[in-house]
Amino acid sequence: MESYKVLVTRKLPGPWIDSLKEIAEVEVWDGSESPPRTWIMSRIKDKDGVLVTLSERIDKEIIDVSSKLKVISTYSVGFDHIDVHYAKSKGIKVTYTPEVLTDATADLIFGLIITVARRIVEGDNLIRSGKWNVPWNPEFMLGKEVSHSVLGIIGMGRIGRAVLKRAKGFDMNVIYYSRRPHDVEAKFVDLDTLLANSDFVVITVDLNSETYHFIDYAKISKMKRTAFIINASRGAVIKQDDLVRALSEGKIAGAALDVFEQEPLPQTNPLTKFPNVVLTPHLGSATRETREKMAMIAVTNLVKCLKGESPLYEVK
Ligand code: DGY
Repeated sequence: MESYKVLVTRKLPGPWIDSLKEIAEVEVWDGSESPPRTWIMSRIKDKDGVLVTLSERIDKEIIDVSSKLKVISTYSVGFDHIDVHYAKSKGIKVTYTPEVLTDATADLIFGLIITVARRIVEGDNLIRSGKWNVPWNPEFMLGKEVSHSVLGIIGMGRIGRAVLKRAKGFDMNVIYYSRRPHDVEAKFVDLDTLLANSDFVVITVDLNSETYHFIDYAKISKMKRTAFIINASRGAVIKQDDLVRALSEGKIAGAALDVFEQEPLPQTNPLTKFPNVVLTPHLGSATRETREKMAMIAVTNLVKCLKGESPLYEVK
């Protein structure tokens, strides 16, 4: 039996790393945080494959250290942390884990929409801090109704479609902006129309050179003052300082964010000061079921490439 050498930068849920050990010599980083870059650099040299997460930057420098690498398998749907172009130019395949995390991510996005619109975190904080001192009253903590409102989805890939499906259950009027129209039950509009008409703007595009800082102050200023922005794709799709400025000036009603330009987001970041901003720590795919499926796909992709077979999902 051919023996492969594999580097894995994090322990993964489920039995998949153990099954990988049956066909390969596997070196796994034991920590719960990313390994130091030097750890990857020193160990990748003689490896045939590497399995990474979105927290490890796999750039030209790392790729150049490895002389035998056939595959970079990322345990994520996003691949902005990998220099895909360079890897491919060296004949290295890059694989990823789409589809299995679509529902979990769309669920979280819907949770964020409802949480920010209905002020759920504010209400929870009010009770915990002992400040709920007025009985029920008609004007108390009013929010924005989600049902029947206008949802604007930026990007209509797998996650955009899954958000659309959920929105239908809420009788929302859905409009979307994307590079091209799709065969979906929602109206394709230009970006300005989407920004000007949506009660909720949801970002579902991936991060690349075209979408980096795609949403800036000028674009946020085109939104309704009563509208909310929701992002669970990548932090850098929104120019975060511009969002802070727009929130300070009351240009929009609030934001719900699962992703940030800098992760972990420091507690001192101005975003943490707004009561109308809901923050979650990059939890889009964070269900046990989804994370185990991601592990299965990431390991299968890796093994298939090592064996010279087509992976389940290759970054094209
Ligand atoms: C991804 O996979 O890219 C998500 O951001 C985390 O699962």
